[in-house]
Amino acid sequence: MGVRFLLDGQRVDLPEVDPTATLLDHLRYTLRRTGTKEGCAEGDCGACTVLVGALEGEAVAWRAVNACIQFLPMVNGKALMTVESLKDAGGALCPVQEVMAANGSSQCGFCTPGFVMSLHGRSIGARGCDLPVADVIAGNLCRCTGYGPILEAGEGLAPAARDEAAVIAGLQAIAGEGASGTWQGRRWFSPRTAQELAALLAEHPEARLVAGATDVGLWVTKGLRDLGAVIFIADIADLARIEEGEAALTLGAAVRYADAHAAMARLHPELGELVRRIGGLQVRNAATVGGNIANGSPIGDGPPALIALGAELTLRSIDGRRTMPLEDYFLAYGRQDRRAGEFVESIRIPRPAAGAVVHIAKLSRRFDSDISAVCGAFALTIAQGTITAARVAFGGMAATPKRAAACEAALVGRRFDEATLAAAAEALKSDFAPLSDVRGSAAYRLEAAANLLRRLWLREQGTAISVLEVEA
Ligand SMILES: Cc1cc2nc3c(=O)[nH]c(=O)nc-3n(C[C@H](O)[C@H](O)[C@H](O)COP(=O)(O)OP(=O)(O)OC[C@H]3O[C@@H](n4cnc5c(N)ncnc54)[C@H](O)[C@@H]3O)c2cc1C
Ligand code: FES
Ligand code: FES
Repeated sequence: MGVRFLLDGQRVDLPEVDPTATLLDHLRYTLRRTGTKEGCAEGDCGACTVLVGALEGEAVAWRAVNACIQFLPMVNGKALMTVESLKDAGGALCPVQEVMAANGSSQCGFCTPGFVMSLHGRSIGARGCDLPVADVIAGNLCRCTGYGPILEAGEGLAPAARDEAAVIAGLQAIAGEGASGTWQGRRWFSPRTAQELAALLAEHPEARLVAGATDVGLWVTKGLRDLGAVIFIADIADLARIEEGEAALTLGAAVRYADAHAAMARLHPELGELVRRIGGLQVRNAATVGGNIANGSPIGDGPPALIALGAELTLRSIDGRRTMPLEDYFLAYGRQDRRAGEFVESIRIPRPAAGAVVHIAKLSRRFDSDISAVCGAFALTIAQGTITAARVAFGGMAATPKRAAACEAALVGRRFDEATLAAAAEALKSDFAPLSDVRGSAAYRLEAAANLLRRLWLREQGTAISVLEVEA
């Protein structure tokens, strides 16, 4: 069975699809919806932003995503809105377009459809609409207008009510079923349960899993790679569970960062702040927590924070499950402890004990929507002024996300004071020999990592350490 979705309430059926054709190309070149633009084709600029709606209970949950890195099977069973959807029957502009046109929010206009979709999403209560306007458009780039009028346009928008009855009925008619197909000899599957996934992977252990495609999408659009057989997993409901218990937060591997954000912020505010800075909203609306771990990237933001917090990873296959400390999953650059037929099922993050000192810091060249040069995370247990346990982990400092054993040893059993943190900062030099690359030199990385311990100390003394708190 192929792909079916709703576009402006009308059902579109694609009996045969190339599983790695992008939604953007389909919109522009097949459906001739050319209002949706291609700027970067890698999820960075937001010019291709569209709204995708899915049934959540009895309601439609809309989310802004980058169409350039959504593969067609990922919109199976969903509803779509593009910038063309916003005009009314008489061709009149929608409120966002009206205010952006009136206040000079657009010059060349290339970025404008993307901003319009992000802001329209906010006005109709799409995922992330509770965030400030600046966060909602952090994944949209404008090269010529300047953000002042765009922010002003967003701030002035009133919430817009939508009658969703027809969309809900349409979605109920097409949602729920899995999908699969063959394209030029390549198989693709979109299973609905983790059990089906385990069986499929047993049969096709070579298949590429695709969750949010915020990494894999670029392998196709930029790397021009042929993925071979593909299994889409982002819509597997039992991989998308969020369980907030007293002792721990457990996230299914297919939980998108935008959906996990509130629960992760409740676990620790600095974890929430880290999530807010993973990509832009369109990226977080697609990117999964499991994909961020499974890709084994040395510069992924989730792993260092989760390792410091003592997270455990559960892998599953047709033969059962196994659980390991998250740090043990990362074996070497590009190599993880995942056997043929296994997939990441869930991640369990213990709730920090009352009084634990936790600090999570992302250093990147741009504050919003940028990849880390260094991401450091610290979780210290302190009893009567002595550090009794320490977990320290970094991204961007080694070939994998990694604990800092020498730094931890320099902390445990010592007084929690400035001298101890300075010695622990010095010990980082024996933990890491980082690389130099476009994001930072080896020397910068080592110094910045050490400074994070100094920053932790200053924060504990009541000094403002976030750039958002520093006043000129
Ligand atoms: C513009 C942009 C900005 C970004 N910014 C950040 C950032 O600030 N911080 C950051 O950390 N990352 C960032 N990323 C990278 C990416 O968004 C994250 O790593 C994301 O969490 C990947 O998840 P995904 O679901 O999209 O993974 P996919 O792209 O779907 O998959 C990634 C890899 O994981 C495998 N995989 C996925 N799920 C599973 C599973 N359950 N079991 C086994 N294997 C699996 C896939 O086969 C693939 O190898 C950014 C990406 C883009 C495009
Ligand atoms: S074209 Fe730039 S994010 Fe899609
Ligand atoms: S108006 Fe030209 S890129 Fe934004």
